[in-house]
Amino acid sequence: MSQSTQSHQQADNLWSSRMAFILAAAGSAVGLGNIWKFPYITGENGGGAFVLVYLACIFLIGIPVLIAETMIGRRGGQSPVATMRTLTQSEGVSRGWRVIGWNGVIASFLVLSFYALIGVWALVYIGKAASGLFTGADAETIGGQFGGLLANPWELLLWHSVFMMIVVVIVGRGIRSGLEKAVNMLMPLLFLLLVVMVIYAMNSGSFGRAVSFMFSPDFSKLSTAGVLTALGHAAFTLSIGIGVLMAYGSYLPKDVNIARTAMTIAVLDTSVALLAGLAIFPLVFANGLEPGTGPGLIFVTLPLAFGQMSGGALFGTLFFALLLVAAITSAISMLEPVVEWLEEHKGVSRAKSALGGGLAIWFIGIGTVLSFNVWEDLHPLGFITLFEGKTVFDLLDFLVSNLMMPLGGLTIALFAGWAMKRQGLAADIGLQGGAYRAFMLVLRYLTPAGITVVFLYNLI
Ligand code: TRP
Repeated sequence: MSQSTQSHQQADNLWSSRMAFILAAAGSAVGLGNIWKFPYITGENGGGAFVLVYLACIFLIGIPVLIAETMIGRRGGQSPVATMRTLTQSEGVSRGWRVIGWNGVIASFLVLSFYALIGVWALVYIGKAASGLFTGADAETIGGQFGGLLANPWELLLWHSVFMMIVVVIVGRGIRSGLEKAVNMLMPLLFLLLVVMVIYAMNSGSFGRAVSFMFSPDFSKLSTAGVLTALGHAAFTLSIGIGVLMAYGSYLPKDVNIARTAMTIAVLDTSVALLAGLAIFPLVFANGLEPGTGPGLIFVTLPLAFGQMSGGALFGTLFFALLLVAAITSAISMLEPVVEWLEEHKGVSRAKSALGGGLAIWFIGIGTVLSFNVWEDLHPLGFITLFEGKTVFDLLDFLVSNLMMPLGGLTIALFAGWAMKRQGLAADIGLQGGAYRAFMLVLRYLTPAGITVVFLYNLI
């Protein structure tokens, strides 16, 4: 076993520019969370007030951890596991903090196994929309399409394999010739598709109604659970807590200002979520449909809207292509910590690490595919109250999104805020004077308090 302790900072495989890192990190952040989840949870939680709380959470919880995690990653310059080993030594603090690294590599490994499946739904829906399946179809037919897909393990497995192969090929080619090339191509495409969709929605949908739904806050519609959903989603959408940004940060050149870069990433991510809402809700309202239909908003309600509109087949196809692109740029970021760790700790080449990691994730992914059909009634840890009634898919989602991600975010905030030496920290983060002090105050108190509340709520 060769244990490379060399930091990437001395090697020549860093991101080629600040822009490359921004696109990669924004690619990670902008994903199914923005285009699939944000609109449907906004719909379920009554719109405006929820959006406001979400924005506050991005600032108070999301951005501080985004900054801290990237900074830790660049300092260590290695995989999350090795980075935390190096930093606990150099900072002279308890070895216990190393759990951050392990939590990251394991969680990013697990998250991809179920995230990929939703990417697969997008992939399949490109074909469905393009073939005009939705045109003029009624609610029952369209609901049946989604149900039919979920019920078909072989079709899902086939596309699950294709999706994972794409991810493995990109990550296997390395930072510059794999990840960077992919995001350079895919991120502009994503923004283009999104703008096209918003323009389409402006012209053919109830745009005004959508704007007032999203931006006129009515706090009577917001429950405590809604507030906590907003908080949890703010963490999820910025991809914080599970070592992805630590891994991406390990390839970040020293002269890049992390605070400023993190702001750019958060602004991009938030804009995409809001624009996705403005692309989706006008179509939903124009066709007399409900915004609060939950996870089916994109795969049932929206196809119904497309089916009733002129140009619906074309724009429906573009919409699902947009969803797929967003899913791929996030999925590659989830494989990176695993690959970086395999490369370092097992001394395996990058291509082989990507293949091995991808295969293992593909294998667990079979369990998430079967969760919707053959194993529908299988509840692996159902004897534990916390996991009652959860399929493999639900279990992985709960484990990562509700336990490992908040736990990771919390420990990262505490490590950077309390355990690390203050010397050189401001310069590393790229903040000075009052801005730095304000940031540290938020990171040390508000961020951990906020995450703890959501974490405990999720357990109860
Ligand atoms: N942020 C991505 C999205 O909104 C998904 C995501 C959540 C993620 N957590 C992550 C990506 C951790 C990478 C790492 O869809």
